[in-house]
Amino acid sequence: MEKIGVMFVCLGNICRSPLAEALFDSKLDEHNLASYFEVESSGTASYHIGEVPDERTIAVAKKHNVPLNHRAQQLKKHHFNQFDYVIVMDESNRSNALDIAPKNTDYELFMMRYFDSVDKGSAVIDPWFGDIDGFEECFQTLDRSCDGFIHFLVEKHNLSLS
Ligand code: 4NP
Repeated sequence: MEKIGVMFVCLGNICRSPLAEALFDSKLDEHNLASYFEVESSGTASYHIGEVPDERTIAVAKKHNVPLNHRAQQLKKHHFNQFDYVIVMDESNRSNALDIAPKNTDYELFMMRYFDSVDKGSAVIDPWFGDIDGFEECFQTLDRSCDGFIHFLVEKHNLSLS
């Protein structure tokens, strides 16, 4: 069975996209859907390659009991062939990702908050420069958006929610 590939993308791959990946994975587990998916996250920048997530990302995931095991990687051209869905956090990520993307490749690119029930289509604000409250807000935004994205995928790929 061909898996449905999902790549979450932010700038550094230490705050937003690893949290999105972790939340999405844990929700797939809850719905018994994990075996249908291949999920990763990456950053458009190279600053943090190989690093664990920011300590505030780790703290907020731990607070909500979401398992988080990640090492930062950079988004590469070949990922666009590997993944069906490229999910970016903000307009700057979108523009940087499109600069990396090969031409004539089949993938779908969405803003994460296209799937949010609140302020649909807006950006997942980068919490890096702020305090822990920004990370909690980021978590809540990603939590709602992951729910919306899973419902979208279930409909589109005729999966069933358990
Ligand atoms: P992220 O946050 O893109 O959500 O991982 C950032 C992490 C690091 C930097 C910027 C944003 N940085 O400039 O190092």
